[in-house]
Amino acid sequence: MMDGGMPICGGAGLGIVLAMMAIVGRGVEGECPFSAIFNYGDSNSDTGGLVAAFPAQARPNGETTFGEPVGRFSDGRLVVDFMAQGLGFPYLNPYLQAIGSNFSSGANFASAGASVLQPTSQVKPNGWLSPFYLQIQLQQFFHLKSTALELYSKGWFKDVVPIPSTFEKALYTFDIGQNDLTAQLSNGVPLDQVSTVFPQVVDTIGNTIQALYTTGAKFFMISNMGPLGCYPAYLANFPHNASDLDASGCLTSFNQVVANFNEALKNKVFFLQTQLYGASIIYVDTHAIKYEMWANGLANGFKFATTACCGPNAGPYNFDSTIPCTGSAVQNGQIVTGSSCSDPSVYVSWDGIHLTESANRYIATRIFSGAYFQPSFPITQMCPLFFF
Ligand SMILES: *[C@@H]1O[C@H](CO)[C@@H](O)[C@H](O)[C@H]1NC(C)=O
Ligand SMILES: *[C@@H]1O[C@H](CO)[C@@H](O)[C@H](O)[C@H]1NC(C)=O
Repeated sequence: MMDGGMPICGGAGLGIVLAMMAIVGRGVEGECPFSAIFNYGDSNSDTGGLVAAFPAQARPNGETTFGEPVGRFSDGRLVVDFMAQGLGFPYLNPYLQAIGSNFSSGANFASAGASVLQPTSQVKPNGWLSPFYLQIQLQQFFHLKSTALELYSKGWFKDVVPIPSTFEKALYTFDIGQNDLTAQLSNGVPLDQVSTVFPQVVDTIGNTIQALYTTGAKFFMISNMGPLGCYPAYLANFPHNASDLDASGCLTSFNQVVANFNEALKNKVFFLQTQLYGASIIYVDTHAIKYEMWANGLANGFKFATTACCGPNAGPYNFDSTIPCTGSAVQNGQIVTGSSCSDPSVYVSWDGIHLTESANRYIATRIFSGAYFQPSFPITQMCPLFFF
């Protein structure tokens, strides 16, 4: 197993190469239990859900891999894309994408701006807040499942709809909660009181997992929250001085709130592990993986961590909420337009809030290493992994 600090080379992580060699070399006969991925989340794993419901996305999103915006908030692929590729599935289609979707090996219910709890502020069609909060995402899944079962019984749409056994053998992934934290702040709750909402948030995540388990789901992966206090957007917007920053240049107080969330989430997952007999419920410490990119960025091929790649090309963080990566605004009588950096692959942050494809690849590579799973889950021994 690779450790969190091992550099990755080229397209595929060394850990994956080694893992694959181990599989081929020893001829391990592990049987990969996964037939599909059903993902729940926010913009960190949205592969086009919000954009399917609201106005189209602007350039330069998608520039690295897709050459055009494809509904992802990044220059290229997201962690969920690498997860799908690594396990040998096509990219997950958003549940809301009406045309050209194929849900045979999963669906993505994630939506940019989505929270766990029902949003209390008005949802606006600018994508900042999403109406597709977790309970809605769960209902969408149940709708997809019942429709799939009905279609199967009639023998219709066989090549785009999951067969019934898919649902029990699917991997159910969660990466959500960040917008519950930031919504508190936008509603004026002081940072040191934001954590009071976390028990309700993690209870709701737990209830969602339980509801899926009740209908036969067995494999769950729950990613924890990234170190938001390291993200250019929060560094730029949150008043602070040098003493508020840790050695990696991240906001200590902000990351403490994230740590509170992760503690609550971990406790909930550990509790569910004791309750849901026969299920594998894996807590994935993506926070630890992500924090490494700020703490040891250079050793891992990154040159910029607290500076966004795409932005107004100004300031230490290259982030200004009035001039987003994809937009322009008049400033001091001049039109300032957000634009991408010349080499996104050496940046951790894409637009100040979301990560670059190269950061997402780094994260996915380490997720597949298994070193960040609690409890450990021998994914590389059970599943042949594919290069990405
Ligand atoms: C849908 O995806 C599955 C595999 O994920 C594939 O076998 C099937 O051919 C695809 N259907 C179409 C219409 O391309
Ligand atoms: C800056 O640091 C001082 C001393 O640590 C602290 O009292 C003050 O509130 C800080 N200012 C901001 C904007 O955080």
